[in-house]
Amino acid sequence: MTDLNDRNSSLPERPEPFWRVSTQLASFPALTQDIETDVAIVGGGISGLTTAYLLAKAGKRVTLLEADVLANGTTGHTTAKITAQHDIIYAELISHIGKEQAKLYYEASMDALRFIRSLVKEEKMECDFSEQDAYLYTTTNQGVKKLEDEYNAYQELGIPGELLTSIPVKNIPVKAALVMNEQAQFHPLMYVAHLVKGIVDNGGSIYEQTVALDMEEKSRPVILTKSGAKVQADHIVIASHFPFFDGSGLYFSKMYPSRSYVVAAKVDNDFPEGMYLSIDSPSRSLRYTMMDGEKLVLIGGQNHKTGHGIDTMNHYEALEQYGQEIFQTLDIRFRWSAQDLTTLDKIPYIGRHSKLHPSIFVATGYRKWGMTNSTVAALLISDLILQRPNRYEELFSPSRFVADPSIRNFISQNTDVAKQLFQGKFDQTERKPEEVKKGEGTIVNVNGKRAGAYREQDGTLHVVDTTCTHMGCEVHWNHGDHTWDCPCHGSRFSYKGEVVEGPAKQPLKSIKTD
Ligand code: FES
Repeated sequence: MTDLNDRNSSLPERPEPFWRVSTQLASFPALTQDIETDVAIVGGGISGLTTAYLLAKAGKRVTLLEADVLANGTTGHTTAKITAQHDIIYAELISHIGKEQAKLYYEASMDALRFIRSLVKEEKMECDFSEQDAYLYTTTNQGVKKLEDEYNAYQELGIPGELLTSIPVKNIPVKAALVMNEQAQFHPLMYVAHLVKGIVDNGGSIYEQTVALDMEEKSRPVILTKSGAKVQADHIVIASHFPFFDGSGLYFSKMYPSRSYVVAAKVDNDFPEGMYLSIDSPSRSLRYTMMDGEKLVLIGGQNHKTGHGIDTMNHYEALEQYGQEIFQTLDIRFRWSAQDLTTLDKIPYIGRHSKLHPSIFVATGYRKWGMTNSTVAALLISDLILQRPNRYEELFSPSRFVADPSIRNFISQNTDVAKQLFQGKFDQTERKPEEVKKGEGTIVNVNGKRAGAYREQDGTLHVVDTTCTHMGCEVHWNHGDHTWDCPCHGSRFSYKGEVVEGPAKQPLKSIKTD
């Protein structure tokens, strides 16, 4: 495996999203003592923060816990398109849940877009919000048929849209495109910074570096944190991407994780207005944002299941190459990746956790459409807590069961998990930890057992047990992000073994070598 420095590439050495570099969010202390509150929210991404904002404004005592720092998960690594055009989805939704529910899905996304638009306006938020048309496009003949089917679904549902033969971006050999007008884009962390201020101004409390580990079920539920501090609340909202509390919800068997990549570049030719997504494989996503008064183009794509496939640096390189094909010059300033969760029927799980836990709410499984789906979640869950009717409750209910395609997808995902669990154990090597080069992460052999080793540039070697602490699958090295990623349910660990992303709660075991 080659180090980035050895490659013929202009990719930045470290992954770092533009959003985080260009925004300074307020910081908050860790929770060190037991507290009680009206609503406790776990997760400081856009879902948790929007929910906290709405409930604090409605007069609830709100406490938000974040395991790391605010908005450093998927919210900080998104492409931040605010749209109801969620790839090709409406033809599929009509066939699985019928016309009425498919239309509701569209309306929920449009309500979310309208909510963000009016909040930005009313609160005079500076967050680079701009109205943009959203385009799906294809460069293949098979893709044309899919876009025609999707357009027919738009017609059936009354969704405004138009079938086109080209898009405003030059140098892409487009065969067909489908546009949804008057969608939007923004800078997600500038938006989130306003929500944070709104929460604090309305009396809400925020704690960072506070890891929620489990729940105790009493008359009022209690969150147990890693530091030992407890939070008792009337209502608990789990917005921690992967739910930190399963409570017989079996979320790990009902969602699968995938990763996608972004490179952000200054380009010579003027990038037009609009947000673009190819429906081909591999998929490609394009939009711009502003940096120092100039356009910075975000080139995204290369989706794959977490912990599966090729060296992850190759995904960044594929995007770099794609950018070079479209733009005359490409000056890549940032690169980053994101993890998304997809449910069995592609509709997020938002609402009451289950009949067993009516005061616990969950919001997860947004696929790649976190800006609108997180806002749908915040509006829906805050309505449920404030005992207001919400017409989307049934559609997003985590307890729903849509036989087709859920049974098929359940079997396929869990068969793959069983395969990974079995196969990983046979992935052995004779390589010793001392042979690992600077900047390299790889599988090694320690006393006849599989282990994972990474050597820092200063020579420090880290060796970990590669057995995932969630359910025992073997983790794989992610070269692009320097993490150990689990192919079964998407847990991720730093090269030192610390949990970066659940469902695992415990770190990988560290192994001492001579
Ligand atoms: Fe479930 Fe690793 S995430 S076994």
